[in-house]
Amino acid sequence: MNVGGQHFRTIWLNAADERVVQLIDQRWLPHRFVVEEVRTTEEMATAIRDMHVRGAGLIGAAAGYGMYLAALEAAAAPACDEYIAAAARRLKMTRPTAVNLAWAIDRQLARIAEAQTPEEKVAVALATAEAIAAEDAEHCRSIGRHGLNLIRDIARRKGGKPVNVLTHCNAGWLAFVDHGSATAPIYAAHDSGLPVHVWVDETRPRSQGSKLTAWELNEHGVPHTVIADNTGGHLMQRGDVDLVIVGTDRTTYTGDVANKIGTYLKALAAKDNNVPFYVALPSSSFDWKMRDGLAEIPIEERGSDEVSHADGWADGRQVEVRVTPAGSPAANYGFDVTPRRLVTGLITERGICEANEQSILGMFPEQAP
Ligand code: MRU
Repeated sequence: MNVGGQHFRTIWLNAADERVVQLIDQRWLPHRFVVEEVRTTEEMATAIRDMHVRGAGLIGAAAGYGMYLAALEAAAAPACDEYIAAAARRLKMTRPTAVNLAWAIDRQLARIAEAQTPEEKVAVALATAEAIAAEDAEHCRSIGRHGLNLIRDIARRKGGKPVNVLTHCNAGWLAFVDHGSATAPIYAAHDSGLPVHVWVDETRPRSQGSKLTAWELNEHGVPHTVIADNTGGHLMQRGDVDLVIVGTDRTTYTGDVANKIGTYLKALAAKDNNVPFYVALPSSSFDWKMRDGLAEIPIEERGSDEVSHADGWADGRQVEVRVTPAGSPAANYGFDVTPRRLVTGLITERGICEANEQSILGMFPEQAP
């Protein structure tokens, strides 16, 4: 997508030095656009853990490049295979909920194991990292094509009046390599001239909605309004939401959806108000082994300071302030699980299916046990 008129992906290889990975450091958005250079596996692990990069697809792509950096380091280490295995374990521990992380690392491990010499392992790891990133962007583009039909149908019914889409957190291009999942249909609709307006959930505590989704939509010129997290139900009751589209960090092959904390409440409100609730995801975000999302999906718990404090921009710098009484404990659950019964459909790179085992495996028959 474009930033200031220039096309960017969220992560890429430095054209002048192939041993360096560059990525947009999202901690500074929307106030500063910072590109970070990552040279080691350890630096990539930090970038994922501390959320310089975040979002399911981008975490997967970053892990893919992290494994390439590990292969480079391993080529100079005494025990190449052990070094790569240890790096994979370190990277896998960085964040628990997004399944793309383990998916990308396991894909790299399988490909690297087929290569013989350390030099071949580096070449294979580089090709695989590039393939993971390219596929992510391509799959998101296809999600946009399929989701566009939903928005077009609503626009037709509304006689050309703007289609109001509510989204939660950031499942935009910043959460992937390009295009985004939940935002891809929105960008496709906007680019094809359909009038679309987005309600952007703020998404405390890290405010991925008000900081990242709003920034993206603004850069692309898509009309939008940032709302406090608890506003969605009220807007749905008033008939001001035509469609909800969210992303996911992990969806079971039976259709249970883990996404940023607060998603479940939006799904409940949507059900009560007959608002269609769609989840957009590339196939890399399905967990093909998990059946019961509520029982099995690991929910990340992050530091309580993200709840007790908030940050913003003042006098040309990022400042952090406490928003709770100093003595009040705070809890910080990163994700929740929306049961399949609340999900109208899943928008994937192959098309739209229902959130149940039969429909999902019908769309991806090669994953059937
Ligand atoms: O904690 P984050 O920012 O990595 O969370 C991921 C998300 O942005 C959301 O849960 C998103 O909606 C799904 S990831 C495409």
